[in-house]
Amino acid sequence: MRPNFKPAERLKNIKPSGIRRFFALAQEIPDVINLSVGEPDFTPPKHALDAGWKASKEGKTHYAPTNGISELREALMQKAYRDYSLSYDSKSEILITVGGTEAVFLALMSLVNPGDEVLVPNPGFVLYEPSIRLAGGVPVSVPLLEEKNFKPSIDGVMSLITDKSRVMILNYPNNPTGAVLSYDEVAALAKIAIERDLTVISDEVYEKIFYDDAKHYCLATFPGMRERTLVVSSFSKTYAMTGLRVGYVYGPEELISPIWLVHQYTVACVNSLAQYVALAALKGPQDCVKNMVREFDKRRHLVYKRLNEIEGFNCTLPKGAFYVFPNIRDFNMSSDEFANNLLKKARVTTVPGSAFGSYGEGYIRISYADAYERLEEALNRIEKTVKRFG
Ligand SMILES: Cc1ncc(COP(=O)(O)O)c(C=O)c1O
Repeated sequence: MRPNFKPAERLKNIKPSGIRRFFALAQEIPDVINLSVGEPDFTPPKHALDAGWKASKEGKTHYAPTNGISELREALMQKAYRDYSLSYDSKSEILITVGGTEAVFLALMSLVNPGDEVLVPNPGFVLYEPSIRLAGGVPVSVPLLEEKNFKPSIDGVMSLITDKSRVMILNYPNNPTGAVLSYDEVAALAKIAIERDLTVISDEVYEKIFYDDAKHYCLATFPGMRERTLVVSSFSKTYAMTGLRVGYVYGPEELISPIWLVHQYTVACVNSLAQYVALAALKGPQDCVKNMVREFDKRRHLVYKRLNEIEGFNCTLPKGAFYVFPNIRDFNMSSDEFANNLLKKARVTTVPGSAFGSYGEGYIRISYADAYERLEEALNRIEKTVKRFG
């Protein structure tokens, strides 16, 4: 007899991530240039990898404390002070997580009650909406429009807030648009959070990746925000450590301890050896980060310039992260169709903007975290292919 199996009801509206879908399609095509994934093509600094190796030889392969090894929490306490003049207690206000992913997911699990509304950027990182739904919440899209440089309109945000609004998710520097916010723009959002009593999950995993005159303003540094903000960050992007899965979250004890509880029952603790790698990366010289951002900057200019030279693309110059989000409406195709065509005909993998939400339709996301020469080749292929679309 066939087992009578059905996935749980809570999965009814959960679809696979559009990024992963295109990534998987790319695996089947030979000689493909994959610009779909959000991971630096660099390797973590050697001294950090050596520290992981050393830790393994010293037998540090056992369960770590639930909230992370104390040395790493202490180093993160110092980082918060050094970078943002923020004081967090390393025992009760910092939790090491399995990447920023776990931190965001568990923050929603521990904050959201069924029916609570969560303001979420649209287009926004693919993790947010499904996580809100899995927590029983209702995602409320905050449109990020190209004509506003992909920044939220303050009046627009105000008009979306109801008695059921409980959490606001912010993500700057932004994935998928590369937008960053000015001091005044962050201050205006902070004011709304305070006035309307919202808790904020501020996803700052790209905190070190910004360009030109842009700066990163940590949300918790704004008056009245430390006590209502969970600052999520990660080692994944800053130190090119995506596969080691180390992230973290800062917040007041009342917000951190429920996350700690759920973390305990889901992953128990983060991989011990990976935490030693993260520790060495954080405590060692930071020139690897600066060099990586300098290289991203060159690639950013290349991709922006070349795309705008191709008829049909309209691309704004991003100020952060490592993505461009060009407008492809002139090609008269859905973003899914367009990305599929690029994959099959140009052998270049991108992500359709619709994978990031309804307001992403009409755009594609291109990650420039790949070698300069490969980007040049990808752009040549794209140029040749889209000429034939016309
Ligand atoms: C905005 C944003 N947040 C969080 C993450 C998760 O990163 P990780 O779980 O590797 O730290 C990503 C990864 O692409 C991201 O783009």
